[in-house]
Amino acid sequence: MGKIVIAIDGYSGCGKSSTAKAVAKALGFTYIDSGAMYRAATLHFLNNYLSPTIPHDVEKGLKTLEISFQINPDSQKQETYLNGLNVEQDIRSMRVSEKVSEIATVKEIRKELVAQQQRLGKKKGVVMDGRDIGSVVFPEAELKIFMTADLDTRAARRQQELLEKGELVDLEEIQSNLAERDRIDSSRKESPLTKMPDAVEIDTSNLTFDEQVDQIVQLAKEVIENEKNYAGNH
Ligand code: DC
Repeated sequence: MGKIVIAIDGYSGCGKSSTAKAVAKALGFTYIDSGAMYRAATLHFLNNYLSPTIPHDVEKGLKTLEISFQINPDSQKQETYLNGLNVEQDIRSMRVSEKVSEIATVKEIRKELVAQQQRLGKKKGVVMDGRDIGSVVFPEAELKIFMTADLDTRAARRQQELLEKGELVDLEEIQSNLAERDRIDSSRKESPLTKMPDAVEIDTSNLTFDEQVDQIVQLAKEVIENEKNYAGNH
């Protein structure tokens, strides 16, 4: 199958990551979770008592930050590693969620992570999800999706997700964390979350998981087919 770049952006907790992962699997593409990279950077700053508002700390933090995605030999799943350690669980904790949007407003941190994301997607055949993938990381992506869902649906899904990991968090606390992250992500100066004019909007509030995956896979197949026909005619 032809290789394209699929950019999936949207608000926090819309199910972007799980959807993107399933889309990648269906197409035989590589999935890259850019949010996990901001989360890993946040964990690194927290663990080393580095402040994102002190330039010297930012420089030090970036110099010692190495993020990679590797297959965990136990779960056989692709997971996030920070300086060689598996941090897949830690980066999803509330401790990190509460700090990640602030870290993601820092220009130098974004610059470094965007460069890494662009390197990871150079060979195409990737599905990447985040907030600025269609606007900044891959403005030339062949397919751009903008996912939305209402706040109640998102909070309930996130609560379930945390519960499955053994973290019981109050629904209101999750709602206010999501609303606050939406506010910061959409209003920040550096690469704010915005729907690109060429992105297809999918509201997942009333869709099942399989339906949202199918919609994107179908769109991707159409784009791949069009690319093939175009290449054949030129
Ligand atoms: O997708 P997520 O909820 O795991 O992302 C965590 C945070 O990282 C989110 O609040 C905003 C930030 N982020 C970003 O600014 N740009 C991206 N491409 C991905 C995530």
